[in-house]
Amino acid sequence: MSTKTVFGAARRGLTKRAGDLYHQIAKRSLMSAATHPELLRDALGRPLGQLRVSVTDRCNLRCRYCMPEEEYHWLRRSDLLTYEEIAQLADIFADAGVSKVRLTGGEPLLRHDVHRLVRLLAANGRLREIALTTNGVLLAQSAQLLREAGLTRVTVSLDTLRPERFLALTRQNLHDRVLEGIRAAGAAGFERLKIDTVVIGGLNDDEILEILEFGRSIGGEVRFIEYMDVGGATLWTPDQVIPRDEILARIERRHGAVEPLPPDGTAPAERFRLRDGTCFGIIASVTSPFCRTCDRSRLTADGMWYLCLYALAGTDLRGPLRRGASREEIAKLLAEVWTARSDRGAEQRREARTRGPLVTIENLRRDPHLEMHTRGG
Ligand code: GTP
Ligand code: 5AD
Ligand code: SF4
Repeated sequence: MSTKTVFGAARRGLTKRAGDLYHQIAKRSLMSAATHPELLRDALGRPLGQLRVSVTDRCNLRCRYCMPEEEYHWLRRSDLLTYEEIAQLADIFADAGVSKVRLTGGEPLLRHDVHRLVRLLAANGRLREIALTTNGVLLAQSAQLLREAGLTRVTVSLDTLRPERFLALTRQNLHDRVLEGIRAAGAAGFERLKIDTVVIGGLNDDEILEILEFGRSIGGEVRFIEYMDVGGATLWTPDQVIPRDEILARIERRHGAVEPLPPDGTAPAERFRLRDGTCFGIIASVTSPFCRTCDRSRLTADGMWYLCLYALAGTDLRGPLRRGASREEIAKLLAEVWTARSDRGAEQRREARTRGPLVTIENLRRDPHLEMHTRGG
């Protein structure tokens, strides 16, 4: 199977530079198919490599691009998977090829003693990466403990350097706590600290250069993320998306030509280096989706398994687990679902003629699993 035929369609519409990088990742993914034929493959040949585990749907911020509503319907506490249940499922996922687990939320650090889950996952031995995506508010007090428990990487969301803008964007006056959290993550010695910045036209796009400089100053890699029309982004409109090419052009106007870098595994970001050595990434899920190399799926806090960020339906794993299904039965279920997968949600959204928020507020209320904050991004 040639990488050209499989990924040709996905490459169309990319700039040459982005296209070359895309091809490199695609080739790597197919090479791993050739060298590890025993791994599960979906209908497009994609392995199941990463599991994003949302440990809670609660959040202590109300980011405009994710949770802009006044009220939410929360998952029932008795439905939440225990840490032992998550670790048990992660072990079955590891059999299926998963080697990286990322804890997300809502805000994962709101779940009590999340370091205990990290310890259970670290004891697994087959998960080479145990990462966390957090808004940083509670990070200062837990960074060291998480590191000691075996967490390998941390990514902190930071959309602005201005406290008053942070308040407007998140409805909480907690900007200082986030900066403290980022500093604590640096001090705790996590590998490859990353900062995620969702760029929204008219809201924070005037801070791209300052945030890039902030990343350099703390030794972290900033990724600029295009504002996505995912479930929960009820205020999304196409004109607020600052496309990858525009982000890059603004950076190049200040810093001169940037050098494209090889991708970081199957990470969604295209990476670049400035002349002074500063590295940064752009996650262009809207204008250049990476679906054809997507090896991730997500588990909600109550045990629903979603394959795509844009999926409208998932598979219940909590039910079988609590009914006492054997490891083999759950493994078989995972294999059946993954091998049938043909999701390419972001690409399909790009093909849509008219585009607005993915899910209406009424449908989000009916099924909170459709929310980005429930399925963990
Ligand atoms: P690393 O590459 O290990 O740093 O992880 P990551 O980039 O997967 O983690 P992170 O949680 O920081 O993801 C960054 C952002 O990319 C998310 O918050 C989403 O906005 C977006 N993203 C993550 N996964 C997907 C995905 O599967 N599809 C799409 N379209 N966007 C995603
Ligand atoms: N567009 C892009 N990224 C989003 N996230 C949440 N909602 C959106 C959206 N509409 C991602 C951001 C944020 C993380 C918690 O989830 O990366 O930092
Ligand atoms: Fe993967 Fe779906 Fe995101 Fe595409 S949109 S990269 S298939 S999760």
